[in-house]
Amino acid sequence: MNKEDYIAVFDSGVGGISVLRHLRSLMPGERYLYFGDSANAPYGTKTREQVRDLTFAAVENLFARGIKALVIACNTATSVAIGELREAYPDRILVGIEPALKLAADHFPGGRIGVMATPITLREEKFECLMRRYDTSCRVYKLPAPGLVELIEAGRGNSPEAEKLLHSLLDPYAGKLDAVVLGCTHYPFATRAISRVVGEQVLLLDGGEGTARETRRRLEEAGLLSRGPGEIRIENSRADDALLQLSRDLLES
Ligand code: DGL
Repeated sequence: MNKEDYIAVFDSGVGGISVLRHLRSLMPGERYLYFGDSANAPYGTKTREQVRDLTFAAVENLFARGIKALVIACNTATSVAIGELREAYPDRILVGIEPALKLAADHFPGGRIGVMATPITLREEKFECLMRRYDTSCRVYKLPAPGLVELIEAGRGNSPEAEKLLHSLLDPYAGKLDAVVLGCTHYPFATRAISRVVGEQVLLLDGGEGTARETRRRLEEAGLLSRGPGEIRIENSRADDALLQLSRDLLES
């Protein structure tokens, strides 16, 4: 491994681009290899075995390509597979993401916090543990949002259709939330629609920046930070020019 190697960023689709934006702004001199598995998205409504196997297949492939670090920019894949991945690759720099519940609880001690995430993330033991740490001091609501990832993958995260779906999911919580944690890396690409539905006064938070900081910390510790020139390569399991263009548009959004 050397400083010139890539930092790989993996997600089930285009969602991890929201994390890549934070990585790039924190470490602009790095070379990034983004891999989205849109051919198999969404992960969040599959079985945990399916998500585990898809994640391992993608990670094995990326590690075989001479990368210096891997960011699992997917809450769903992290919640299912990070423990097993750390056992399989004990010597590699591997950073996951989790819903930013701590950040929300720090902002609103004793507050009312909704966590939007995929059905799998909210069902997994990892999230249960996280929730137990905060649901005595805060009121935490689980807000699964099936269907939203598909719209974002189609570039329609802030469309009237997305807003309609969000109304059906979130209207029961109107006026009851101080903050909404975006616990799926796709959801930052639907923030305008989410804000219109829950109210502009509700703070939206995600874990992308924390993940980028942790990645920088790990690289610094290993002496692997690069000063550039920076580069971003975007690849996807769905060979589709429109999807690659959408990925680049989201990166600059
Ligand atoms: N972007 C992923 C996450 O952070 C999941 C999206 C999907 O369901 O594929 O959870």
